Amino acid sequence: MDPNEYELMYQVEERHWWYQGMEVVTRAVLNRWAPIPQPRILDAGCGTGAAMTTYLAEYGKVTGVDLYPQALDFCRKRKALRLVRASVLNLPFAPASFELVTSFDVLYERAVSSDAAAMTELFRVLTPTGRILLRLPAYDWLRGQHDKRVHTNRRYTKKLVKELLEQSGFVVEHLSYANTWLFPLAVVKRLGERIFPPKDNQSDLAMNAGIFNNLLKFILASEAPFAAHTSLPYGLSVIAVGRK
Ligand SMILES: C[S@@+](CC[C@H](N)C(=O)[O-])C[C@H]1O[C@@H](n2cnc3c(N)ncnc32)[C@H](O)[C@@H]1O
Repeated sequence: MDPNEYELMYQVEERHWWYQGMEVVTRAVLNRWAPIPQPRILDAGCGTGAAMTTYLAEYGKVTGVDLYPQALDFCRKRKALRLVRASVLNLPFAPASFELVTSFDVLYERAVSSDAAAMTELFRVLTPTGRILLRLPAYDWLRGQHDKRVHTNRRYTKKLVKELLEQSGFVVEHLSYANTWLFPLAVVKRLGERIFPPKDNQSDLAMNAGIFNNLLKFILASEAPFAAHTSLPYGLSVIAVGRK
């Protein structure tokens, strides 16, 4: 990820509509598929630590892992307690160390040279009845300027995520797209960027939605029961729950 992105992420995570709406969606999925208590949670690719120090902490004791020291520095500012610098490709934990692994928008990055190898590692560190909750960006044809900025290597479909889970030994319990209601707007934005490319690779996080922030958050959050209990047919993200 572009190093400047960590600072931006840290600054906006607690108010940007995407993070706030996605938290409501993620909580609904967790409540349905991995309810409290989950004694030991690994947040694989924890970024600047918002999820691990806020809502994930309500489900259990969270350990955050990230490859980049900049990310972990911001986690420390958030007073995260258990932090480890490591790659998801080579985790410094014994087998069966966690009841739940979460990995939000990580496996698609260039720094994850093989998503299959990362999944094998995540499988290994889970207890025999452990679960994984994944979120990944959807559709390769939706690549935009933001993907350049966050070093996207690949984007996914539900089918690809299902294959990824199954090939690493997981039983797929739940699979849905998310960020579905706003999908048409996003498509127009992304395709528009191809016709009128902006001068620099601006991050989507740098776009201030201003007075629409709460409205966009409300729209995304309203998907939560659908994303947790049904399988939304398209969207900007894929979310999946797998059981070992
Ligand atoms: C888009 S951010 C997502 C951060 C956080 N999960 C969230 O939802 O806000 C991707 C994160 O994955 C981390 N990352 C990339 N490659 C990694 C690897 N091989 N091992 C561990 N973390 C990695 C990056 O440093 C970054 O913090």
